[in-house]
Amino acid sequence: MKSLEINGITGNSKILVGEKLQNLKKYIPADKFVIITDCNVNKLYRKDLPVCDIIEITTGEQIKNLDTVQSIYSKLMDVEADRSTFIIGIGGGIVCDITGFVASTYMRGVRFGFVSSTLLSQVDASVGGKNGVNFHGYKNIIGNFNQPEFVICDISLLNTLPQKEVLCGFGEIAKHAFLGDSSLCDFLEKNYQKAHALDEEVISRLVYDSVVIKSTIVNLDEKEKGERKKLNFGHTFGHAVEKTTGMLHGQAISVGMVVAAKLSHQKGLIPHQDVIRIEELLKNLRLPVTVMTNKNKMLDAIKKDKKRKGMDIDFVLLNGIGNAVIEKISIKELEAIIADM
Ligand code: GLY
Repeated sequence: MKSLEINGITGNSKILVGEKLQNLKKYIPADKFVIITDCNVNKLYRKDLPVCDIIEITTGEQIKNLDTVQSIYSKLMDVEADRSTFIIGIGGGIVCDITGFVASTYMRGVRFGFVSSTLLSQVDASVGGKNGVNFHGYKNIIGNFNQPEFVICDISLLNTLPQKEVLCGFGEIAKHAFLGDSSLCDFLEKNYQKAHALDEEVISRLVYDSVVIKSTIVNLDEKEKGERKKLNFGHTFGHAVEKTTGMLHGQAISVGMVVAAKLSHQKGLIPHQDVIRIEELLKNLRLPVTVMTNKNKMLDAIKKDKKRKGMDIDFVLLNGIGNAVIEKISIKELEAIIADM
């Protein structure tokens, strides 16, 4: 097991890569605790969970909303959770985002931690203290920053993960490589077949390296005033693709990263070979690089992006593989890109 730390204004977080769900109990710093998990995890791993009240939610992006949050508040009250109760979210990004938000707001905030059960949440969603839900169809519009006290990334849980969910995790790993670590890009290019086979050594390295990149950035800029925006590489178009096509997040950001790479090339920041290299790696990771979608709806979704500031958006481009830069791009320019897509 390897561990990393985030020391933020909103709290400190220990990320434990390679720790096991079965060892969860030793990290819970309270006598009273409640688990929030989803029906899949609860069915597969109930036998491995410590004895306590368990609040089960269903799955899917459509349940990541305030109705689910309210129903969890009610259940916490039913089980008489109080300010001393520790809450543990066990699941993927949806469970962790909702649990973090519930724990940060229930009784003005209680302590919490996560066991991250999907590749996407191990490499991204559960790490970094962003909590929240979607609202009126827009992603993560309601939420807060607050660090989980621990995040257990149990690699063995990935063996029961549906393949399309594994691929989504590869999307976020590739994102970290493109924005901050060219050696991770080389490693992925050499080892994508072993990654598909869930080779433990390869997956452990991919998770650890991703968390190193993410935690380094979060330690510099927890509340996304500058540097952390780089973690949104591929997300301006990615979120719009996700919203307009219903594609899974990791797939949609793969398409978004290709658009951002092409734009970086158009702006003279990277050579055409780098765009090809990015596309090839994403294809080898079995991720989509193009999509058919309604252009007006795409533009509408981008205009409602929370990264928008007036007529500009902070857009993440590449100034080389492993070197992201943030540039303001006008909505007009994005409109032209969408028209060309
Ligand atoms: N997923 C991007 C971030 O946590 O900032």
